[in-house]
Amino acid sequence: MKKFLIAPSILSADFARLGEDTQKVLDAGADVVHFDVMDNHYVPNLTMGPMFCKGLRDYGITAPIDVHLMVSPVDELVTAFAKAGANNISIHPDATTHLDRSIQLIKDQGCTAGIVLNPAVSLDCLDYIIDKVDLILIMSVNPGFGGQAFIPYILKKIAQTRKMINDSGRQIRLEVDGGVKIDNIAEIAKAGADMFVAGSAIFGHPDYKTVIDAMRQQLAT
Ligand code: DX5
Ligand code: ZN
Repeated sequence: MKKFLIAPSILSADFARLGEDTQKVLDAGADVVHFDVMDNHYVPNLTMGPMFCKGLRDYGITAPIDVHLMVSPVDELVTAFAKAGANNISIHPDATTHLDRSIQLIKDQGCTAGIVLNPAVSLDCLDYIIDKVDLILIMSVNPGFGGQAFIPYILKKIAQTRKMINDSGRQIRLEVDGGVKIDNIAEIAKAGADMFVAGSAIFGHPDYKTVIDAMRQQLAT
Protein backbone atom coordinates (compact mmCIF):
# COMPACT_ATOMS: atom_id res chain seq x y z
CA MET A 1 0.00 0.00 0.00
CA LYS A 2 1.47 3.38 -1.07
CA LYS A 3 2.16 5.51 1.99
CA PHE A 4 0.56 8.78 0.85
CA LEU A 5 -2.05 9.32 -1.84
CA ILE A 6 -2.82 12.64 -3.52
CA ALA A 7 -6.40 12.82 -4.78
CA PRO A 8 -7.22 15.98 -6.77
CA SER A 9 -10.88 16.96 -6.52
CA ILE A 10 -12.16 17.39 -10.06
CA LEU A 11 -14.83 19.69 -8.62
CA SER A 12 -12.27 22.40 -9.42
CA ALA A 13 -11.41 21.03 -12.88
CA ASP A 14 -12.54 22.52 -16.19
CA PHE A 15 -16.01 20.96 -16.57
CA ALA A 16 -16.15 21.75 -20.26
CA ARG A 17 -13.02 19.62 -20.75
CA LEU A 18 -13.40 17.16 -17.90
CA GLY A 19 -11.73 14.13 -19.53
CA GLU A 20 -8.77 16.13 -20.76
CA ASP A 21 -8.27 18.01 -17.48
CA THR A 22 -8.55 14.79 -15.42
CA GLN A 23 -5.95 13.08 -17.60
CA LYS A 24 -3.74 16.17 -17.26
CA VAL A 25 -3.78 16.03 -13.46
CA LEU A 26 -3.03 12.29 -13.52
CA ASP A 27 -0.12 12.89 -15.91
CA ALA A 28 1.10 15.49 -13.41
CA GLY A 29 1.45 12.73 -10.80
CA ALA A 30 -1.91 12.43 -9.02
CA ASP A 31 -2.72 8.99 -7.56
CA VAL A 32 -6.52 9.00 -7.41
CA VAL A 33 -9.40 11.01 -8.92
CA HIS A 34 -11.63 12.48 -6.17
CA PHE A 35 -15.16 12.78 -7.57
CA ASP A 36 -17.57 15.04 -5.63
CA VAL A 37 -21.27 14.29 -6.05
CA MET A 38 -23.69 16.94 -4.75
CA ASP A 39 -27.48 16.85 -4.94
CA ASN A 40 -28.73 20.27 -3.81
CA HIS A 41 -30.46 18.49 -0.92
CA TYR A 42 -27.81 17.05 1.40
CA VAL A 43 -25.56 19.97 0.38
CA PRO A 44 -26.53 23.27 -1.27
CA ASN A 45 -24.85 22.61 -4.60
CA LEU A 46 -25.30 20.39 -7.65
CA THR A 47 -22.54 18.58 -9.53
CA MET A 48 -22.03 15.31 -11.37
CA GLY A 49 -23.98 12.05 -11.60
CA PRO A 50 -22.90 8.53 -12.60
CA MET A 51 -22.85 9.32 -16.32
CA PHE A 52 -19.92 11.68 -15.73
CA CYS A 53 -18.05 8.84 -14.05
CA LYS A 54 -18.79 6.50 -16.94
CA GLY A 55 -17.80 9.31 -19.30
CA LEU A 56 -14.37 9.50 -17.68
CA ARG A 57 -13.93 5.73 -18.05
CA ASP A 58 -15.04 5.88 -21.68
CA TYR A 59 -12.59 8.71 -22.25
CA GLY A 60 -9.81 6.41 -21.07
CA ILE A 61 -9.24 7.36 -17.43
CA THR A 62 -7.86 4.21 -15.76
CA ALA A 63 -6.82 5.65 -12.37
CA PRO A 64 -8.85 4.79 -9.26
CA ILE A 65 -11.99 6.93 -8.92
CA ASP A 66 -12.86 7.90 -5.35
CA VAL A 67 -16.54 8.89 -5.28
CA HIS A 68 -17.59 11.20 -2.44
CA LEU A 69 -21.38 11.07 -2.25
CA MET A 70 -22.89 14.21 -0.75
CA VAL A 71 -26.42 13.04 -1.49
CA SER A 72 -29.39 11.74 0.42
CA PRO A 73 -30.62 9.04 0.11
CA VAL A 74 -27.52 7.17 -1.05
CA ASP A 75 -28.35 3.58 -2.02
CA GLU A 76 -29.55 4.03 -5.60
CA LEU A 77 -26.52 6.11 -6.46
CA VAL A 78 -24.17 3.57 -4.84
CA THR A 79 -25.32 0.97 -7.34
CA ALA A 80 -25.20 3.41 -10.24
CA PHE A 81 -21.68 4.64 -9.43
CA ALA A 82 -20.36 1.11 -8.97
CA LYS A 83 -21.65 0.29 -12.46
CA ALA A 84 -20.20 3.55 -13.80
CA GLY A 85 -16.65 2.59 -12.79
CA ALA A 86 -16.11 3.86 -9.23
CA ASN A 87 -13.45 2.11 -7.13
CA ASN A 88 -14.21 3.63 -3.74
CA ILE A 89 -17.55 5.08 -2.64
CA SER A 90 -17.75 7.15 0.53
CA ILE A 91 -21.00 8.11 2.24
CA HIS A 92 -22.02 10.39 5.09
CA PRO A 93 -23.66 8.50 8.01
CA ASP A 94 -26.29 11.22 8.40
CA ALA A 95 -27.33 10.84 4.73
CA THR A 96 -28.63 7.29 5.00
CA THR A 97 -31.16 5.70 7.33
CA HIS A 98 -29.41 2.32 7.57
CA LEU A 99 -25.67 2.93 7.54
CA ASP A 100 -24.57 -0.68 7.91
CA ARG A 101 -26.79 -1.71 5.02
CA SER A 102 -25.47 1.07 2.77
CA ILE A 103 -21.84 0.23 3.59
CA GLN A 104 -22.55 -3.44 2.86
CA LEU A 105 -24.20 -2.46 -0.43
CA ILE A 106 -21.02 -0.62 -1.51
CA LYS A 107 -18.95 -3.72 -0.79
CA ASP A 108 -21.44 -6.04 -2.47
CA GLN A 109 -21.10 -3.89 -5.58
CA GLY A 110 -17.35 -4.61 -5.61
CA CYS A 111 -16.12 -1.23 -4.36
CA THR A 112 -14.21 -0.27 -1.25
CA ALA A 113 -16.34 1.57 1.28
CA GLY A 114 -15.67 4.87 2.98
CA ILE A 115 -17.43 6.79 5.72
CA VAL A 116 -17.30 10.61 5.69
CA LEU A 117 -17.58 12.74 8.81
CA ASN A 118 -18.51 16.40 8.58
CA PRO A 119 -16.50 18.79 10.78
CA ALA A 120 -18.91 18.79 13.74
CA VAL A 121 -19.86 15.10 13.55
CA SER A 122 -18.52 13.05 16.44
CA LEU A 123 -16.12 10.14 15.99
CA ASP A 124 -18.50 8.09 18.15
CA CYS A 125 -20.35 7.00 15.03
CA LEU A 126 -17.25 5.00 14.02
CA ASP A 127 -17.49 2.77 17.10
CA TYR A 128 -19.05 -0.22 15.34
CA ILE A 129 -18.78 0.53 11.64
CA ILE A 130 -14.96 0.89 11.83
CA ASP A 131 -14.82 -2.90 11.55
CA LYS A 132 -16.38 -2.71 8.09
CA VAL A 133 -14.96 0.36 6.35
CA ASP A 134 -11.87 0.60 4.14
CA LEU A 135 -11.53 4.37 4.37
CA ILE A 136 -12.45 7.18 6.75
CA LEU A 137 -12.79 10.62 5.19
CA ILE A 138 -12.56 13.52 7.60
CA MET A 139 -14.09 16.73 6.24
CA SER A 140 -11.97 19.74 7.05
CA VAL A 141 -14.56 22.16 5.61
CA ASN A 142 -18.35 22.05 5.54
CA PRO A 143 -19.21 20.13 2.37
CA GLY A 144 -20.70 21.77 -0.68
CA PHE A 145 -18.03 23.99 -2.20
CA GLY A 146 -14.39 24.02 -3.16
CA GLY A 147 -12.03 26.80 -2.16
CA GLN A 148 -12.88 27.04 1.56
CA ALA A 149 -10.35 27.37 4.38
CA PHE A 150 -9.19 24.35 6.43
CA ILE A 151 -10.87 24.35 9.87
CA PRO A 152 -8.03 24.24 12.43
CA TYR A 153 -9.79 22.10 15.08
CA ILE A 154 -9.87 19.24 12.56
CA LEU A 155 -6.18 18.52 13.20
CA LYS A 156 -7.09 17.14 16.62
CA LYS A 157 -9.90 15.09 15.09
CA ILE A 158 -7.49 13.59 12.53
CA ALA A 159 -5.13 12.56 15.35
CA GLN A 160 -8.01 10.96 17.27
CA THR A 161 -9.14 9.11 14.14
CA ARG A 162 -5.60 7.87 13.54
CA LYS A 163 -5.56 6.42 17.04
CA MET A 164 -8.89 4.67 16.47
CA ILE A 165 -7.58 3.19 13.20
CA ASN A 166 -4.38 1.96 14.85
CA ASP A 167 -6.36 0.47 17.73
CA SER A 168 -8.64 -1.33 15.27
CA GLY A 169 -5.64 -3.15 13.81
CA ARG A 170 -7.21 -2.84 10.35
CA GLN A 171 -5.79 -1.28 7.18
CA ILE A 172 -7.98 1.80 6.79
CA ARG A 173 -7.11 4.86 4.72
CA LEU A 174 -7.42 8.20 6.52
CA GLU A 175 -8.42 10.78 3.93
CA VAL A 176 -8.79 14.51 4.55
CA ASP A 177 -10.91 16.77 2.33
CA GLY A 178 -11.13 20.55 2.27
CA GLY A 179 -8.63 23.39 2.29
CA VAL A 180 -5.58 21.16 1.81
CA LYS A 181 -2.68 23.22 0.44
CA ILE A 182 1.09 22.98 0.03
CA ASP A 183 1.59 24.92 3.24
CA ASN A 184 -0.59 22.77 5.52
CA ILE A 185 -0.28 19.25 4.05
CA ALA A 186 2.73 18.37 6.23
CA GLU A 187 0.92 19.10 9.49
CA ILE A 188 -2.19 17.24 8.26
CA ALA A 189 0.04 14.22 7.55
CA LYS A 190 1.75 14.62 10.90
CA ALA A 191 -1.66 14.45 12.59
CA GLY A 192 -2.18 11.05 10.92
CA ALA A 193 -3.75 11.46 7.47
CA ASP A 194 -2.43 9.42 4.54
CA MET A 195 -4.70 10.51 1.69
CA PHE A 196 -5.18 14.13 0.68
CA VAL A 197 -7.93 15.68 -1.40
CA ALA A 198 -7.01 19.00 -2.98
CA GLY A 199 -9.18 20.85 -5.45
CA SER A 200 -8.51 24.56 -5.71
CA ALA A 201 -4.86 24.24 -4.65
CA ILE A 202 -4.08 22.05 -7.67
CA PHE A 203 -6.54 23.17 -10.35
CA GLY A 204 -6.11 26.82 -9.41
CA HIS A 205 -2.44 26.68 -10.40
CA PRO A 206 -1.36 26.81 -14.05
CA ASP A 207 1.05 23.90 -13.60
CA TYR A 208 -0.49 20.96 -11.69
CA LYS A 209 2.84 19.11 -11.50
CA THR A 210 4.47 21.97 -9.61
CA VAL A 211 1.79 21.76 -6.90
CA ILE A 212 1.75 17.95 -6.69
CA ASP A 213 5.56 17.78 -6.55
CA ALA A 214 5.61 20.46 -3.83
CA MET A 215 2.99 18.52 -1.84
CA ARG A 216 5.02 15.31 -2.12
CA GLN A 217 8.11 17.18 -1.04
CA GLN A 218 6.26 18.46 2.03
CA LEU A 219 5.13 14.90 2.78
CA ALA A 220 8.71 13.68 2.60
CA THR A 221 9.87 16.07 5.33
C1 DX5 B 1 -16.23 19.90 -0.65
C2 DX5 B 1 -15.64 18.78 -1.48
C3 DX5 B 1 -14.16 18.86 -1.63
C4 DX5 B 1 -13.68 20.10 -2.32
C5 DX5 B 1 -12.27 20.35 -1.93
O1 DX5 B 1 -17.56 19.61 -0.37
O2 DX5 B 1 -15.93 17.54 -0.86
O3 DX5 B 1 -13.65 17.69 -2.25
O4 DX5 B 1 -13.76 20.02 -3.70
O5 DX5 B 1 -11.87 21.53 -2.53
P1 DX5 B 1 -10.70 22.44 -1.94
O6 DX5 B 1 -9.44 21.61 -1.99
O7 DX5 B 1 -10.68 23.58 -2.87
O8 DX5 B 1 -11.07 22.79 -0.53
ZN1 ZN C 1 -14.91 15.65 -1.55
